[in-house]
Amino acid sequence: MKVRKAVIPVAGLGTRFLPASKAIPKEMLTIVDRPTIQYIVEEVVAAGIEQIILVTSQGKSAIENHFDYDFHLDAVLYEKKKTALLEEMRHLANLIDIVSVRQKKPLGLGHAIWSARNVVGNEPFVVLLGDDLVLSEQPCCKQMLNIFDEVKESVVAVQQVPKDETYQYGIVEGQHIRDRVIKIDRMVEKPAPGTTKSDMAIIGRYILQPEIFGLLEKTTPGHGGEIQLTDALLALSNQRGMYAYEFEGTRFDAGDKLGYLKAIIAFALRHPDIGENFSDHIKHVAAQL
Ligand code: G1P
Repeated sequence: MKVRKAVIPVAGLGTRFLPASKAIPKEMLTIVDRPTIQYIVEEVVAAGIEQIILVTSQGKSAIENHFDYDFHLDAVLYEKKKTALLEEMRHLANLIDIVSVRQKKPLGLGHAIWSARNVVGNEPFVVLLGDDLVLSEQPCCKQMLNIFDEVKESVVAVQQVPKDETYQYGIVEGQHIRDRVIKIDRMVEKPAPGTTKSDMAIIGRYILQPEIFGLLEKTTPGHGGEIQLTDALLALSNQRGMYAYEFEGTRFDAGDKLGYLKAIIAFALRHPDIGENFSDHIKHVAAQL
């Protein structure tokens, strides 16, 4: 079955970025010339997905406005004959069909995904977490869809992390069935040090069978007192099987100050307008250290 829909949860308060995220959603913080959420939306579009479901909360309307048509801006750019910008803004507004649902209570990632159940319906769908930016030749979401076509069961993106960082992630355990593909046996959200031998961490890209919604409904609060997606994933993997995929590319945790700065540097170095000058500047700065 073709995967047509992507759920992007953006309801979180973004406390790690206060005060920057006090009056604007953290998803609207800029990386070079576009907000972080735009990179995620562009990845979804490049993977051929047809609809995005944003799971929002109060104070997040800037995200919806960003991908909307702005008549006033359009008129001003037209009048000033800023044709390239005008085209870019129109393209942005037409990127993809976006709908939003509200997460009515901050009960965790699992609850956020569950909030999208009526719009997703009974079909497999993608989940992308806005904090995880991936730089890769082929969009990470597309890589995941290719694996889903092959295994025809849910797939989670994973990456090897240092052993002393496993407690920050959902961790999967399982057997490699081939290069980069693991059949999952067990998953645990933010394991206490020493409770897992695996260092395969879930990164914010998932393709899920719709049975996840019924399982999320039955999931009781887990790590941090929240309804954890990982707990429902374990139930789904026991029910019908699940695979982990070691994607190709570099992942940045744009939800963390240092990760965000690393992302800015990586994306700036590849930017068609400023990449070369920025690279010279970085070399100059490095030489002074
Ligand atoms: C979430 C997931 C976790 C995953 C992580 C990836 O955690 O619950 O399983 O490893 O995203 O970024 P969070 O970082 O939102 O606490």
